[in-house]
Amino acid sequence: MKAVLVNGSPRKNMNTAKLLAEAARGAQDAGADTETFNLYDLSFTGCKGCMACKMKDTRFVARCALKDDLTPVLEKCAEADAVIMGTPIYFSYPTGEFRSFLERFLFPVDTYLVKEAGNWESGRVKLFEGVKPCGIIYTMNCPEFLAGEVGYPQLMEPNRAETERLYGHCEDLWCYDTYQVKDYSRYDINMFDEAAKRKQLEEQFPKDLQAAYDMGRRLVAMAAEA
Ligand SMILES: Cc1cc2nc3c(=O)[nH]c(=O)nc-3n(C[C@H](O)[C@H](O)[C@H](O)COP(=O)(O)O)c2cc1C
Repeated sequence: MKAVLVNGSPRKNMNTAKLLAEAARGAQDAGADTETFNLYDLSFTGCKGCMACKMKDTRFVARCALKDDLTPVLEKCAEADAVIMGTPIYFSYPTGEFRSFLERFLFPVDTYLVKEAGNWESGRVKLFEGVKPCGIIYTMNCPEFLAGEVGYPQLMEPNRAETERLYGHCEDLWCYDTYQVKDYSRYDINMFDEAAKRKQLEEQFPKDLQAAYDMGRRLVAMAAEA
């Protein structure tokens, strides 16, 4: 069993990275070898719409034709039994790097083919027939009670749904109200109550870490059964 973890945060040892490390530990405890990639270490772009993966007789079946630093990461994802991604929310969306990764991870296995030509209701032809369990971990400043009000569930759901459509299973984990800096007293920030943030860090974040661990373990166990 192999599990790949993809960090879409520029920070390699903060909230998203810590949750991914726990997910990796869970995956290992379920019997997987794990490999983690930090997207901000790599030089790459999103999908360029070259359509090479959609050409007749293409040699890029379910593979992205673009060649850059993401190419070996995508290859590892293709070989992996489970893929767990993580991203902070930046201005109400996943980071740009995460989004670029997701385009390249999803589009090559998507098709513009329906089972019966011209009949959308006949169902889409799938390139990936099995189940590669996937997970997405989101971290954000937003407290849980506000997330619905600002529309985050609707904004994020297509990431989960499209990944599930193409890889058979995708679940997400939301980590709210994260501790953004190591020492709030050094920053010109008064929007958040530091004491409340610390309480969240001490009481909720360990639960989030446990949920990430459980996700890693569960997805690898699911892959083993698939
Ligand atoms: C450029 C930028 C934009 C952000 N925008 C949002 C936002 O729209 N909503 C939110 O809840 N948090 C926002 N945040 C906070 C981060 O999502 C939060 O601190 C996250 O946990 C950071 O992840 P990391 O610790 O793994 O880097 C933003 C942070 C930065 C740096």
